[in-house]
Amino acid sequence: MQADFRIAKNVSQSLKRSLKTGGLEVSGRKIIARNRSDLSKAWARYYDLLAAQFVERIGRRRFRVILEAGCGKGQLTIPLLRRLPREVKVIAIDSSKGPYAGWSKVLSQELRRAGLEKRVRSFRSDARRIRGIESESVDIIVSNELLCDLPYDPQLEKALIEFYRILRPGGFMIHGEWSSSPAAEPQAFLVKHWPSWTPDQLFSIMRKNGFHNFQVTYFDTTIHFGYENALKELQTWGATKRFLRRNDAVLKREGIELPYEHMVECEK
Ligand SMILES: C[S@@+](CC[C@H](N)C(=O)[O-])C[C@H]1O[C@@H](n2cnc3c(N)ncnc32)[C@H](O)[C@@H]1O
Repeated sequence: MQADFRIAKNVSQSLKRSLKTGGLEVSGRKIIARNRSDLSKAWARYYDLLAAQFVERIGRRRFRVILEAGCGKGQLTIPLLRRLPREVKVIAIDSSKGPYAGWSKVLSQELRRAGLEKRVRSFRSDARRIRGIESESVDIIVSNELLCDLPYDPQLEKALIEFYRILRPGGFMIHGEWSSSPAAEPQAFLVKHWPSWTPDQLFSIMRKNGFHNFQVTYFDTTIHFGYENALKELQTWGATKRFLRRNDAVLKREGIELPYEHMVECEK
């Protein structure tokens, strides 16, 4: 996953009318991580709200087994599990390599810490070659920020073929991904997510691979990162030291904001 950064002409209005909720500043759909001490709380809140939207989209469907592909360190897995009925089992897979090497170990630790390890079967697997999961044995497939790591048609198609194979007939699939458009509100830095599939592209490729009842919703919560947190996030996303030095003043003044997410869903 990478991000593309540009400086916009419009500088954000400062964060007016913000409230303190649970020790964290929140302004409308914007979570504010002004100081270093806010960062982990801000991400936890973000993922909890995102999990709530996944659960809302799953709605009243009947299910026992959910597969999460590209679960990473469990950022979504854990809040999702907390919102799901106890009898639901989650299978969490991740290839855990390259920039994400070691994430599956972190996932195991986090699941134990949360006391949720019995409800999850997690293992390393590429979504394009899922081993050890029988055909038509999964009710729901979810993912977040996985599809951007499959940026070419043949990569995405291989994963979709596997998803189609393991999903039961009538099963539901939903994938969240940061939009390729920056958050709409004017801000000093436009954080643009690249590569990113558009919902139109996903519609075509999912339809071609047998899925139907395609729908798109948006998760319009964002996090505003103050200076220190913005630096940390930008480094994680691959910004160079030179870039950070050159834009130091604007980062100090404005910080950055996450793009919104689109969530595409369909059925087998
Ligand atoms: C950007 S992270 C997102 C992690 C987590 N889902 C989240 O929402 O924060 C992408 C994750 O997808 C995993 N991933 C990338 N390509 C994969 C593939 N082909 N098969 C399985 N997992 C993959 C990476 O290892 C990484 O953990």
